[in-house]
Amino acid sequence: MAEVIDGKSVAADVVRKVQGLTAELAGRGIKPGLAVVIVGEDPASQVYVASKSRTAKKCGFHSLQHTLPADASQADLLKLVSDLNADPAIHGILVQLPLPAQIDAGAVIQAIAPEKDVDGFNFINVGKLGAGELATAFVPCTPAGSMLLIERVRGRDLSGLNAVVVGRSNIVGKPMANLLLAANCTVTVAHSRTRDLPALARTADILVAAVGRPEMVRGDWVKPGATVIDVGINRIPAPEKGEGKTRLVGDVAYAEAEQVAGAITPVPGGIGPMTIAMLMANTVTSAFLAAGLERPFF
Ligand code: GUN
Repeated sequence: MAEVIDGKSVAADVVRKVQGLTAELAGRGIKPGLAVVIVGEDPASQVYVASKSRTAKKCGFHSLQHTLPADASQADLLKLVSDLNADPAIHGILVQLPLPAQIDAGAVIQAIAPEKDVDGFNFINVGKLGAGELATAFVPCTPAGSMLLIERVRGRDLSGLNAVVVGRSNIVGKPMANLLLAANCTVTVAHSRTRDLPALARTADILVAAVGRPEMVRGDWVKPGATVIDVGINRIPAPEKGEGKTRLVGDVAYAEAEQVAGAITPVPGGIGPMTIAMLMANTVTSAFLAAGLERPFF
């Protein structure tokens, strides 16, 4: 049976560290400020955003939420981003995705000042990560959190290990691959066009699943002893719990994979809590840099 990697506990460690750093800034009269922007009323986004705001308050941040109506224009959103860019009380700006169809999400993300881009989606930060400039980049929260969990199991230097990342999104798959490469893994990025994905997955010492397909990665895709990181959060029907009930599963068939893996993240309680914790880490980091202080690392 695999070691279960407790994302909640590691996320709590990160939040405690953020609280300590926030207290250090308070001594200098600085309070980290995080602005979360949401457009419309997508229920899943509302849940995520509420959770981000709650954790920000717990960290001692100045936490601000802007809700724009579902029919807000691109100009409205760009104006808000521009105001937040100019506001010295704000160190982190997060525009919750997805955005309504009338808004060009790419244009909005690129309008966020790179030094306040705590999502790590701006091309400046994407480019820094791609170039291995980790000392100055903001790294997207989900892959950054996944790396912290991998380090807990495998240590910081992953030299010689084969990593397979299933999924090539800009938010998870690609930045994840770059982080693993920076940690000296041999990295393969697999996706929907990959041939014989099960055989490729079985070569992985570190297997990251980030495809958004419930329980796609089966137990016999996992190399014995591998570290399995499940980024998926999928809600599926659970008739066994009663009519109309649902449950959350990852992209990995957990019950099968845990028989084979050396260590595995559960869903829920694995990567999910880490994503929010790393948003707090990026925001306090931004506040340190804005004050001309040495960057803290997590
Ligand atoms: N929607 C789902 N995940 C994310 C994320 O990490 N950042 C933003 N901005 N929106 C998201």
